[in-house]
Amino acid sequence: MKVLIVGSGGREHAIAMSVAKSSKVDKIYCAPGNAGIGQIAECVPIGAMEFDKLATFAKETAIDLTIIGMDDPLVGGVVDAFEAEGLRVFGPNKAAAILEGSKAFSKDLMKKYNIPTAAYENFDNPEAALAYLETAKMPIVLKADGLALGKGVLICNTLEEAKAGVQEIMMDKKFGSAGNQMVVEEFMTGREVSVLSYVDGKTIKIMSSAQDHKRAKDGDQGLNTGGMGTFSPSPFYTKEVDDFCQKYIFQPTVDAMAAEGRPFKGIIFFGLMITEDGPKVLEYNARFGDPEAQVVLPRMKNDIIEVMEACIDGTLDQIDLQFEDNAAVCVVLASDGYPVSYQKGFEIKGLENFEDKDGYYCFHAGSKLNDEGKIVTNGGRVLGITAKGADLKEARANAYKATEWIDFENKYMRHDIGKAIDEA
Ligand code: AMP
Ligand code: GLY
Repeated sequence: MKVLIVGSGGREHAIAMSVAKSSKVDKIYCAPGNAGIGQIAECVPIGAMEFDKLATFAKETAIDLTIIGMDDPLVGGVVDAFEAEGLRVFGPNKAAAILEGSKAFSKDLMKKYNIPTAAYENFDNPEAALAYLETAKMPIVLKADGLALGKGVLICNTLEEAKAGVQEIMMDKKFGSAGNQMVVEEFMTGREVSVLSYVDGKTIKIMSSAQDHKRAKDGDQGLNTGGMGTFSPSPFYTKEVDDFCQKYIFQPTVDAMAAEGRPFKGIIFFGLMITEDGPKVLEYNARFGDPEAQVVLPRMKNDIIEVMEACIDGTLDQIDLQFEDNAAVCVVLASDGYPVSYQKGFEIKGLENFEDKDGYYCFHAGSKLNDEGKIVTNGGRVLGITAKGADLKEARANAYKATEWIDFENKYMRHDIGKAIDEA
């Protein structure tokens, strides 16, 4: 089989690594890819939003399966563009990807189908939002409706902050048209857990749980980022929590989408808050998490192509999804200054240390091959260093050991990924 992966981050590198393990696959392409993905796939210089070019490439190259890694093309309808050409593609179509593409849609869906989530109101005009805030309890959460690179959520402690947030999102349009609508939501406290799942339109199979660290600095300080590190599984995702989520969240979400005439095929990523009143949905995503994929996929025992084909064909009920009985930790190596401003173009040294090391992975996010043939930094999040271990403690020690094998100027990382867990 020939497989095309669309995207260019650590998530797509982790997907490519899983695809490369499949006995069914002869050749992998990635558009646009990055320097690390280029070591196991042929990178083609087509952007993830260039749907026509992607579909033409898939046709001319006789690609058997295209896997969409990123949210923007999914929400924009890349799957519809491929299907219109009779091409086989893994991911939700535009009608289903709205689950991630519009927070107002997903909140209304949860309300209609009694799926536990924070209480909320949707607004499409700032005056009404401001009037509502006057009587609302603080802290409160403001969310731009559309995609905003993971930055469209503001947690406001005071009425003044909340008013300034409405100004930013709806009036100054800091997140562009993503702020045409806004969700105002009750603030929840508890443990956050990410649960990724495969879905075939009617059946859902849950992957091993994970947890992200979104803040830039140790101790969950600093600005929100795309994610500075992850671990899997989460000890807070207990059997009891799983039973509840299976019954009240996972299958009900799949059934709700089908009932709305938007059957979902692909990955649903449930962002959950385990509150005192039980698990509630923080958000849905319509793709693998990044860096969640970097700890979940290395632990998956199944052939990923078989699972993805079952999602497309509606035969997921016949798949026995299995994960290794161990743990994994991913520490992101970033460019100092991320997520605000940072320099690029520094040579990444030590990549060869990962060759032939079982249980250690160096996933590339922001890297590129320069004109001199050197791999250099090319983004805020540069690499995801993942290691497995018998348990989280061992995986964590292994991952931090492996971060020392890599060196580049302005290398920055958090030192407490998974640490709260050791102490829990
Ligand atoms: P989201 O993009 O919706 O996952 O939001 C980003 C982050 O904001 C989440 O990972 C949470 O840490 C936080 N967050 C979102 N919604 C809420 C809420 N209702 N209560 C508390 N924290 C929230
Ligand atoms: N790590 C969070 C996300 O992928 O949305």
